[in-house]
Amino acid sequence: MSAPEERYSDALEAAARHARQWLESQETRHVGPRKTAADLAADFGGPLPREGTPAAEVVDYLATKAEPGLMAMPSGRFFGWVIGGTLPAALAADWLVSAWDQNAVLRLATPATAAIEEAAGQWLLELLGLPKESDVGFATGATMANFAGLAAARWRLMADAGWDLDGDGLFGAPLIRCFVGQERHDSIDLGLRYLGLGRPTVVPADRQGRINPWELDRALASAVDQASAAGPGPAPLLVCLQAGNLHSGAFDPFVEAIAIAKARGAWVHVDGAFGLWAAAVPELAALTAGLQGADSWGTDAHKTLNVPYDCGVAVVRDARALRAAMGLHTSYLIQDAGSADPFESVPELSRRARGVPVWAALKSLGRDGVVAQVRGLVLRARQLAEQLSALDGVEVLNDVDYTQVSLAFGDDATTRAVTARIIADGRVWMSGSRWRDRDILRISVSNWSTDDADVAVAVAAVRDAVAAVRAQRS
Ligand SMILES: Cc1ncc(COP(=O)(O)O)c(C=O)c1O
Repeated sequence: MSAPEERYSDALEAAARHARQWLESQETRHVGPRKTAADLAADFGGPLPREGTPAAEVVDYLATKAEPGLMAMPSGRFFGWVIGGTLPAALAADWLVSAWDQNAVLRLATPATAAIEEAAGQWLLELLGLPKESDVGFATGATMANFAGLAAARWRLMADAGWDLDGDGLFGAPLIRCFVGQERHDSIDLGLRYLGLGRPTVVPADRQGRINPWELDRALASAVDQASAAGPGPAPLLVCLQAGNLHSGAFDPFVEAIAIAKARGAWVHVDGAFGLWAAAVPELAALTAGLQGADSWGTDAHKTLNVPYDCGVAVVRDARALRAAMGLHTSYLIQDAGSADPFESVPELSRRARGVPVWAALKSLGRDGVVAQVRGLVLRARQLAEQLSALDGVEVLNDVDYTQVSLAFGDDATTRAVTARIIADGRVWMSGSRWRDRDILRISVSNWSTDDADVAVAVAAVRDAVAAVRAQRS
């Protein structure tokens, strides 16, 4: 039997070699995968082998066979969904997190990761201008970060209504009335569903997808009237707002909407999966103005900050409510009586130290670097919108105030045909979607490495796809 360090070294060296090759290929490779999951099934499936394989061989096999089925998501030419790349310091820190193999749950058991994550959390509050007293939890993504914020909201609203949620559950509980904008991300509905809060009231939005605050006021007033007609007792209200619309990048009008919600005693949650980061950039301050007046926020570090998957961040001003909703106390968890433990702020109990790559990303960029990174994404989005709108047959549908650009190429069939051409071409990758009753091509600039050359390639790829579709039809 070899020494323990040798047992790891061959496999780790193989992994480092393959990782380097993969990252080096990002500049030139075809962005989309060249094989389907069905094509690859035979390489990875079949009966579980009876005998094992040496670790380095496993890594070689994995990397070689997987390669044609990988999407170049870390490439500066990937513009799909909202998927950031990975900063070098964050990627390397993530490797350390795997090697350290800390179950980052308890301060006493894993003090290094607890201290690093707490520092990262404080840096985030400072950077995003969120209340210093907030609790910060590192979850798998914005879906679970939003879920954590909404769970804290549910706990607090029930407690304030005099209902013991933990003891008595939801049966017979006061009805929490929830309000969302027409263009909220569906993960908000999912979070409400997980929490047994049912379908929310949908408030109309404007042409960019921003909630209409006066309609919100009207909806809240009507809910309060209904509640009082139903009898005496509290009418808990939960309002969900959005920083960063998936299609337009638009931000809800926080100053007005939060003032309206607060006047009625509502808890306000903000889904800022990729948009919350605008709060770090002085010239984007108008987009996020007033957002700090909310009660909870969900964001992703794996999007705009560019740390590896998976990493969402839950921020809740009322730390007691978050810990009451997420925490647990049992004999085998050895807790430090004086302080909260990392597991008390997120849905997961056992988890990797996913806040460590966030610390590394922030440390490597510094405040100025984060500002420059977000600014760069917005600049590229604007360049793309400007250059693409100058092409014949291309229509930019949104106001490009942030990182998203939504395009149409005439009718739906043409837009779908152009999208399919772009994806088959492989120089760039962009998502098709549907917005305001139209098929669209959506560009999301989320990768720190997207540069002028990538913008030029993207414009050429769209131009060529439009020309090819036209030629085919003439
Ligand atoms: C606005 C918004 N909210 C929530 C989510 C869900 O984030 P995640 O996939 O990290 O859970 C997304 C994902 O793109 C999003 O854009």
